[in-house]
Amino acid sequence: MDELQIEGKVMDEQRQGEALMIETKGLGAGRKLYVESYGCAMNFSDSEIVASILGENGFETTRNLEDADVVFVNTCSIREKAEQTVRKRLKEFNKTKKSKPDMIIGVLGCMAERLKDQLLEEEKLVDLVVGPDAYRDLPDLIQEVDGGRKAVNVILSKEETYADIAPVRLGGNGVTAFVTIMRGCDNMCTFCVVPFTRGRERSRDPETIVNEVKTLAEQGYKEVTLLGQNVDSYLWYGGGLKKDLKQLSEEEQGTAITFALLLEKVALAAPGMRIRFSTSHPKDMVDEVLFTIAKYDNICNYIHLPFQSGSNRILELMNRGHTREWYKERIDRIRSIIPNCGISQDIISGFCTETEEDHQDTLELMEYVKYDFGYMFNYSERPNTMAQRKLEDDVPTEVKKRRLQEIIDLQRDHSHYRTKEQLNTVRRVLVEGTSKRSKEQLYGRTPGNTVVVFDKKEFKAGDFVDVRIDDCTSATLLGTAIGLADSPA
Ligand code: SAH
Ligand code: SF4
Ligand code: F3S
Repeated sequence: MDELQIEGKVMDEQRQGEALMIETKGLGAGRKLYVESYGCAMNFSDSEIVASILGENGFETTRNLEDADVVFVNTCSIREKAEQTVRKRLKEFNKTKKSKPDMIIGVLGCMAERLKDQLLEEEKLVDLVVGPDAYRDLPDLIQEVDGGRKAVNVILSKEETYADIAPVRLGGNGVTAFVTIMRGCDNMCTFCVVPFTRGRERSRDPETIVNEVKTLAEQGYKEVTLLGQNVDSYLWYGGGLKKDLKQLSEEEQGTAITFALLLEKVALAAPGMRIRFSTSHPKDMVDEVLFTIAKYDNICNYIHLPFQSGSNRILELMNRGHTREWYKERIDRIRSIIPNCGISQDIISGFCTETEEDHQDTLELMEYVKYDFGYMFNYSERPNTMAQRKLEDDVPTEVKKRRLQEIIDLQRDHSHYRTKEQLNTVRRVLVEGTSKRSKEQLYGRTPGNTVVVFDKKEFKAGDFVDVRIDDCTSATLLGTAIGLADSPA
């Protein structure tokens, strides 16, 4: 029977709706959700969507594992080490579960998508496995588990952007927040697992993005970071999966929103907020975006521009879609269009067949740019990627490690060079909170994304403060506050 009956009476449609609401709210009534996130900002942002979906169903979030009835770990597969960390954590969760047998343990995110039900079979540590595009299904899946079954949904979607879901901000500082503008990735870099764990690239409706940013501004947030694996290929023209502006009809092109236009819309919608974005892809970063950054004060002068390797041969094997010359030209354009632009990198050391000469090309490119900071990794082979199938992971671990250390050491010198450049200047800092080292000090960031620490005085988190830079290490600027400012830049 389809109809819902209470006390023997058949209800009208509206009442049925209400009853269903109460029933699903009941799913989480009195139950607490604990979410732990690993990996990139996208995962942290997704966990906020998950908290919102379960919040709608009556779950409260908790920061204490011991209080939790449902424990989720939002996972990353980017390198083997990331997966090992999660496995270790799952074992710890299972220890807690021993004294609380009803506790549900779920794996979300990229590792869920990569390993699917293998995760259930493998070590029996998990009740629930849910991929990044299936979070709307969580209430039903939890019900399955309540009924004594294991539950899995790892279906990837070509459309899901969770555009209508208002994230519940978890564990943040109340000052900075992430907003996802697109999901998935179509690039197929040969080393990378993301296209397999996150599916096809799709952009989110710009109106919902702007509204989310406006809401953050109303709630007192002072900075938003727009997230995507390749923000430069953001494209909205009302739906569909056509990727390229060139593939659109003339009419569609006229109304299409590119990343540059989206940035502009967001900057205008929240003039009192700092706008950041991540990640840019060198092959797609167009001058229009750089001009937009230069035009609006509240868009931070900072670009994270991964280059992975300085060798053309390796870049080609990685399928990055650009050369070192192209990359340098992009850097030159950034420097000429946006004065004082902070630039950071991602580098992979020891990719398949990398020679000493290739490695020297990487160091040379670093020397050319002198990045403010960077994220540097040893190559970690990932199952089923093109590199794993077609290339040999043949650089010995010792060599990978030594090259990585050289890269890290050089980056430290460059970071110090960049922080020293800022001595005796005044930088506008958005205060994010109290410094870890001293309660009497605050920390925040410059528009270029360098961390600044200074004595608290009368200032507090969320303030824009002008700070004179007196001293520095390679990672941090130390300064003296000279006054409150009334705008982001
Ligand atoms: N979409 C972003 C990067 C996302 S992954 C971009 O294209 O720039 C973040 C970083 O992890 C990458 O830039 C790369 O440097 C690193 N990474 C990805 N796969 C890796 C692997 N198999 N081994 C080591 N590092 C990897
Ligand atoms: Fe991975 Fe490349 Fe996509 Fe970045 S652009 S997520 S490195 S496939
Ligand atoms: Fe990791 Fe998935 Fe992000 S693999 S880096 S959490 S997209």
